[in-house]
Amino acid sequence: MKHLISTDDLTKADLERLFDLADQIKKNPKKFATALSGKVIATLFYEPSTRTRCSFESAILKLGASVVSTENARENASAFKGESLEDTIKTMSGYVDAIIMRHPENDSAARAAAVATVPFINAGSGSSEHPTQAILDAYTIREFINSPLDRRGGAKRRGSLNNLKVAVVGDLKYGRTANSLIKLLSPNKIYALAPIGLEPEFNAIKCNSFNDIPHDVDVIYQTRIQRERLPAGVKPESFTITKAILDKFSPQTLLMHPLPRNDEISTDCDIDPRSVYFKQAHNGLYTRMALLLMVVK
Ligand code: CP
Repeated sequence: MKHLISTDDLTKADLERLFDLADQIKKNPKKFATALSGKVIATLFYEPSTRTRCSFESAILKLGASVVSTENARENASAFKGESLEDTIKTMSGYVDAIIMRHPENDSAARAAAVATVPFINAGSGSSEHPTQAILDAYTIREFINSPLDRRGGAKRRGSLNNLKVAVVGDLKYGRTANSLIKLLSPNKIYALAPIGLEPEFNAIKCNSFNDIPHDVDVIYQTRIQRERLPAGVKPESFTITKAILDKFSPQTLLMHPLPRNDEISTDCDIDPRSVYFKQAHNGLYTRMALLLMVVK
């Protein structure tokens, strides 16, 4: 794997290697403190981010590399002066050892990777893909699935990513995290609960309410309505999961969310041991460290 544009770029072997590496890093981060010493990595973010940018930059620093960053690249980089994405990436390829980019256009990652002469990592491209989110989501499922006793204190047993029943909820048309995760988990049984007009393109069993989702699903993956991608004035219904709704599901069901959340998960769910969304965000650090170790030469 030279570039990571899509979850399609990851083989099962890549994923297992990445997960094993993330496990090692999580156990003993100091061992990797100089692994990328002397490297310089760029983060170019044309859309806002808290988790992806900060966890990548923290990962870069924790591996002993340096980071050059453009946080609001639409205004603070030469795109503002009309520079094409291709010209920016060709230029940056001469300065750094890898480029991590988030961009609002669906084809941006493929376009950037086509001209990058250093490894390129997609940190979110429009409504199409967010492969590093899918990696951390899958890692978190693997960590906690079927190991309820371990949820508070870290995993002791490992779950499998096969034969899962996963319910995805929310904006499944513009939500790139669900799109990437479903591809990565395929084939599994997928249930979709989405507002009218925001249904997914991927194959799923359609649900109209939380009552239609089997109580024993392995994962409920909630997502935010991507208001920034909707036409002005469109206000879709949102399916909020409360603790009372969560309690209708199995004690084994994981409640996940890529974050940030709006009102899709009420805060009374936060203390439930099945809620792993902040653990997901934390795992983003280790999985992104592992990914950098695999792609930066
Ligand atoms: N999950 C995710 O991509 O979060 P950020 O937008 O904060 O990076």
